[in-house]
Amino acid sequence: MTNAIRLGVNIDHVATLRNARGGLHPDPYTVAVAAMAAGADGITIHLREDRRHIRDDDAERICLKLGAPINFEMAASGEMADIACRLRPHGVCIVPERRAEITTEGGLDVIANKGQLLPIIARLNGAGIVVSLFIDPETAQLEAAAAVGAAVVELHTGAYANQRPGELARLAAAAALTTGLGLECHAGHGLTYANVQPIAALPEIRELNIGHYLIGEALLVGLPASIRQMKTLMQEARS
Ligand code: PXP
Repeated sequence: MTNAIRLGVNIDHVATLRNARGGLHPDPYTVAVAAMAAGADGITIHLREDRRHIRDDDAERICLKLGAPINFEMAASGEMADIACRLRPHGVCIVPERRAEITTEGGLDVIANKGQLLPIIARLNGAGIVVSLFIDPETAQLEAAAAVGAAVVELHTGAYANQRPGELARLAAAAALTTGLGLECHAGHGLTYANVQPIAALPEIRELNIGHYLIGEALLVGLPASIRQMKTLMQEARS
């Protein structure tokens, strides 16, 4: 098993800042270029149904022109599957989406939504897109993710970031089960310099997707420095 771990930089909050003034600055595409130059291994964007941050033209430029691995987060809808099949990102991460939420609050209920997920995953797989499901570290949900044809599971680290007791052990067991089921394991949500290392140290995890903290820290030290520091911490945890 390779010891490498990738960092996907989520740039949704750059679009949030741009949209606050309704203009063109800061431009998520330009920031994505800078993130890749600073050592990001890929770019994550979430095209939400309400387009509150990333918009269709951002998604189009980032997927079609950047030339980097794109992790396209989306709800399990026909509209989003159409867009993904047209833009052909490297991967799609299917997330639950509720209009009223501030950010993605819980993992996807794969068991309850099996009927809706199966045809969408089959369609994305058919388009050559690697499909990931964002789920809580629960055995039954992981088994369902394998059963519906996902290639990757992204474990929701939100409860761990909120210091729920026992959560690191649950994530460790879930990461081992994910690879045991033949799926690649990613993780993300709420990760910071202070809490990233125990997650990065889990040997099965191949990729972390991190956004809010990196963009916030960039206000203080600049985006390249915030990305470099996060990667250094991740790599330290692997050695
Ligand atoms: N992974 C997924 C599936 C997410 O929805 C988010 C938040 O958009 C992240 C990772 C990144 O979380 P954060 O912005 O807290 O680092």
